Amino acid sequence: MRRDRPALHARPVPTEPSVPAETQERVTRQFERLYRRPPALLAVAPGRVNVIGEHVDYNGGWVLPAAIDRCLVLAVAPRPDDRVRLATADFEGVLEFDRTDLAPGRARDWSRYVRGVMAGLAAAGHVVPGFDACIASTIPVGGGLSSSAALEAATGLAGLALAGGEMDRFALAKLCQRAEHDYAGVPCGIMDQAAVLCCEAAHLLLLDCEAETFVQTPLASAAWSLLIINSGVAHELASGEYARRRAACEQAAQRLRLPSLRHLPESGLDAALAVPGLTEEMRRCVRHVVTENARTQRCVAALAAGDFRAAGALVNASHASLRDDYRVSCDELDAIAAAAQAEPAVAGCRMTGGGFGGSCIALVQAEHAADVMRRVGDAFAARFGRRPTAFVTPAAAGARIVRP
Ligand code: GLA
Repeated sequence: MRRDRPALHARPVPTEPSVPAETQERVTRQFERLYRRPPALLAVAPGRVNVIGEHVDYNGGWVLPAAIDRCLVLAVAPRPDDRVRLATADFEGVLEFDRTDLAPGRARDWSRYVRGVMAGLAAAGHVVPGFDACIASTIPVGGGLSSSAALEAATGLAGLALAGGEMDRFALAKLCQRAEHDYAGVPCGIMDQAAVLCCEAAHLLLLDCEAETFVQTPLASAAWSLLIINSGVAHELASGEYARRRAACEQAAQRLRLPSLRHLPESGLDAALAVPGLTEEMRRCVRHVVTENARTQRCVAALAAGDFRAAGALVNASHASLRDDYRVSCDELDAIAAAAQAEPAVAGCRMTGGGFGGSCIALVQAEHAADVMRRVGDAFAARFGRRPTAFVTPAAAGARIVRP
């Protein structure tokens, strides 16, 4: 087998990440226009893409995300009173609420993410004063790239900075996850919030979602790139299906008398699938989760050995499992994956994130990325009458505070 040997073992020197100048200017201009003063600080939070390990985080499994170089910037300045005012650089209108009025269910707009994180910080003893805020983001909303986790993480870091507090990054990720559960009604796992807060530049984050430990896994290859292709199908509407998959996994684990599906090794899969009392839906979920955990372990080993082709084959198998067993893909994602997988320069391609829309990730030879984007776009356009958006991303840095 051909081996592409990138500099996987040479630990790259991480460059100090900055805020993209255009986004910083956009958010600062709008902040000053609305609030007649400059922001005191900026919280920057990236989106994330998951290389492999999909729909396993809430089963205690292993995931392998990277932060992407699309990010959300939250500009804030404290206020002397209890008001919180929120605006965006892209739309008119300011959302307002009182910092002491944080009960869940009060808002259906995007302030619920901010309220949820502030409530978590308050419960953890961090007194966040009133503040004015404005956001600008380059993460496509509904693209399956964790725009909401980025907003939660930016709020968490900004809130801590305003409160003069500190918190362990993973603990903050769990606080943000709780906000998503209680304020947005999405029973998500920990992957997105952990990725946004804990990823490092030039690394994938190998996260053990049960042990709540992670290893920074170098991904520094001049030869291979991460290509993201956004189907343009907004994925949010499907949160009911997400909850349903999660419930099926939990019921299956119960019937198999396991604390979670993580505890079922691949070698025990056939026997488990024969256990009476599992529905067909549960069986499909069990098969996906168990095989996906095994694929993730193998993929990590392949990447560590510099074998992107082997890693890519596992990525392709992950897509098939999500499509056929877990049933969280859609025609648009399947079309992108099929077109990309047929490209010789692509080691593997699959849907990434929650599914039912959103994006695909491809491991592509860097020098051919532009051609692959164009040809996959052509194939998609011939079928769906519009082009998907696509971009190459490095494994970027996690969320951080920047002083303007
Ligand atoms: C969404 C959730 C994550 C994870 C993925 C699927 O992104 O927020 O917790 O479950 O779906 O892997």
